[in-house]
Amino acid sequence: MKNESLSARLDAVTAALDAHRQSQLLEGLDRSDDVMVEGFVSQVESIDLDEIATLIATTGPADSGDDRRIEPAHVVARDPEGEEDFRQAGEALIREGGVAAFTVAGGQGTRLGWNGPKGTYPATPITGKPLFRVFAEQLSAIDARYGTVTPWYLMTSPLNDADTRSFFLDNNWFGRDPDSILMFPQGVMPAIDDDGRMMLAAPGVLAVNPDGHGGSLRALQRSGALGHARSRGVRHLSYFQVDNPTVRTIDPVFLGLHVGHPDSSAEMSSKMVPKANAAEKVGVFCRIDGRTEVIEYSDLPADLAEATDADGRLRFNAGSIAIHVLGVDFIDRLTNGSTEAGLPFHRARKKVPYWNPATGESIAPTEPNATKFEMFVFDALHFAEAGLVQETDRVEEFAPIKNAEGTDSAVSSSGLQTERAARWLERAGVEIPRSSEGVVEGRIEIAAATALEARDLDGRSLPQMNAGEDLIL
Ligand code: UD1
Repeated sequence: MKNESLSARLDAVTAALDAHRQSQLLEGLDRSDDVMVEGFVSQVESIDLDEIATLIATTGPADSGDDRRIEPAHVVARDPEGEEDFRQAGEALIREGGVAAFTVAGGQGTRLGWNGPKGTYPATPITGKPLFRVFAEQLSAIDARYGTVTPWYLMTSPLNDADTRSFFLDNNWFGRDPDSILMFPQGVMPAIDDDGRMMLAAPGVLAVNPDGHGGSLRALQRSGALGHARSRGVRHLSYFQVDNPTVRTIDPVFLGLHVGHPDSSAEMSSKMVPKANAAEKVGVFCRIDGRTEVIEYSDLPADLAEATDADGRLRFNAGSIAIHVLGVDFIDRLTNGSTEAGLPFHRARKKVPYWNPATGESIAPTEPNATKFEMFVFDALHFAEAGLVQETDRVEEFAPIKNAEGTDSAVSSSGLQTERAARWLERAGVEIPRSSEGVVEGRIEIAAATALEARDLDGRSLPQMNAGEDLIL
């Protein structure tokens, strides 16, 4: 090896791997050049080997064997009449630059079958605006309304970071100030085989996967984004997933509730919609031993998922739509190493392709062969002093694109976007053609510059719509 400092780093990494009984990762490295060795050393250095050792040593997910007292969460009901004070408090916060948008876009979008970052997916019903553009245009409309420039933090993953950056560049940052957009890749976790060993994807390359959207909190800290937010006077992050084109990226009422409602500690607040049915694949807000938490759909025991109250309604019906506001101080407390608070890792058995050093072959397993580790952002709720949950309307704010077809697909999302636009127009007095089943006959798309919510159309002169027509506003 020509490079002395690299050689010293490799020695340190070798010793650490030996100490953690993971020296199988060094197999094949002797045939690598300095560039590959540097890549390997950096990859191992970025992994917390003690954390991995603890995960290997502990069996079962942190949330298994639940004997805690689980009750439905307390929810702040929708109250359009009573929300004016909260709206004003939220608007004041936006105006003074106290809020930033935060999108988690590190997922692999496997279910959607889209070849590229999910945010590049054409999402709107008529013009097919990509998800990233939908969010960018909303932020620009917010900025114009409140005379501010809202910073936008965007978490990518090592797998889609370069493609995401090129997309923004090719689209001229959607007309936004490039300095107000900060992208950073999330962390990764190594996959572990059934013998508790980390695996190689190729000689000198670890098999890793993104560490879940819960990794966004430590990625905010590590990337310097949290410091960037603080230096700009940002005190709260409006968090949303990349898959939902009807999300209100910055919602004054929700922000006002977060900072001013007696049920909130201004640390972490969330939105819910009543579940469509017991089997819907959304996490559920619960109260566990007195704290608000989310139980993921895959972890909610069937008897609780199906339990109903005296009126036949689902007892646990507060479905999480993965929209939160998080205080900058709260995220800092969870991630600056000064407390013991850390999000738990959830485990999933997966098929992980790997390189077998004994035979020199690359293997694509047909059955799950390894455990992946992911953190979920909603587990941060456990550490909040109080977690406010606000009810909202599904048609207004939840039209996710997750699957190639059926539920939560581009087609279902497009239908919901049209339905929402139709309701806004009807409220403003426009007659919308509907079938006998009530389905809008035609497609409608309202740009954020035209309206961010129904009341923005009040008093406007609006076009009529004929059956079968496309209406773009
Ligand atoms: C998620 C929530 C579920 C919620 C539902 C609402 C989880 C575990 N569950 O389900 O409680 O009701 O959304 O739509 O999240 N992501 C990353 N990095 C990762 C993994 C995911 O950035 O390592 C991002 C994705 O880009 C996406 C979001 O997180 O924006 C959701 O991930 P996904 O795995 O699709 O979760 P769901 O099963 O849809």
